[in-house]
Amino acid sequence: DWIMGDYIAEAVAKIREQVGDEEVILGLSGGVDSSVAAALIHRAIGDQLTCVFVDHGLLRLNEGDMVMEMFAGKLHAKVIRVDAADLFMGELAGVSDPEQKRKIIGRLFVDVFKAEAAKLKAGDGGHKGAAFLAQGTIYPDVVESGGTKTKKATTIKSHHNVGGLPEQLGLKLLEPLRELFKDEVRELGVALGLPHDMVYRHPFPGPGLGVRILGDVKMEYADLLRRADAIFIEELRKAVDAASGKTWYELTSQAFVVFLPVKSVGVMGDGRTYDYVVALRAVQTQDFMTAHWAHLPYELLGKVSNRIINEVRGINRVVYDVSGKPPATIEWE
Ligand code: XMP
Repeated sequence: DWIMGDYIAEAVAKIREQVGDEEVILGLSGGVDSSVAAALIHRAIGDQLTCVFVDHGLLRLNEGDMVMEMFAGKLHAKVIRVDAADLFMGELAGVSDPEQKRKIIGRLFVDVFKAEAAKLKAGDGGHKGAAFLAQGTIYPDVVESGGTKTKKATTIKSHHNVGGLPEQLGLKLLEPLRELFKDEVRELGVALGLPHDMVYRHPFPGPGLGVRILGDVKMEYADLLRRADAIFIEELRKAVDAASGKTWYELTSQAFVVFLPVKSVGVMGDGRTYDYVVALRAVQTQDFMTAHWAHLPYELLGKVSNRIINEVRGINRVVYDVSGKPPATIEWE
């Protein structure tokens, strides 16, 4: 639509003016905000932008490849993928406390990103080095950190963010989405050619599957969880609610599978199984501060359960989480 076209032209001009002939680094996470920021900045300055994508091994099924396909493949942006799964798994080994897990993941994420950014800042033979760090900060983030909103008295979960990074790296900050609300960011993403499904994806926490594997994080668990989660999401996207004409993916605010490191007995063919349990979580919410569990149709729950148990060897039981927030939180950790 032409109003969005005008907006893009204006934003592009502003970015070009601010950046000049300098180089820009951006941390790509696969999330909506950093993706849209990357697409917009790439539209403005092309190869002066380098994206750094830290793959911590706790992403969803094929997520890393999809990010690369979109940005390196389709948009022809410069993207450095850092495969840090072994590093993250190594540091997480034996750690079961949720807050501790969050802190480790957040710290490693910043360390890995900083190391890459430092290399890019230093430049090389043909490059003079980066001068800007771009971030997908959106208006609600600005308001929150400016103290306009009353801060919660207690931290229930420490969310990892990369505050202070530009100063530490000695880079100037580029935040082209600072004035936009989430729905505007999504519209902008679509107008820039990002796929609808990417831009309208449910939120995904920074620590990724690290907080959806209860207790000790192991690659074996992450692999089982990824496959189960992909089945749940696929079925939610396929199932249409007759009354509203919307899919159950659209009718839920966030839905995912949680891995429980608990084994239970089952029967398959004429054998006994002793395998892991997963929980399905699907919520409806406006602001994620409170949430209701989604009343998914029984047929849908049954289909998801059958598919997970039949297709993911190692899982033999599926349960549905019927807890509201409060008192439960949306994530299990
Ligand atoms: P809870 O579990 O606190 O989650 O009800 C509320 C929303 O926040 C997301 N969440 C996180 N996002 N880093 C993030 O970036 C985190 O550590 C984190 N913990 C929870 C959660 O997915 C939900 O959307």
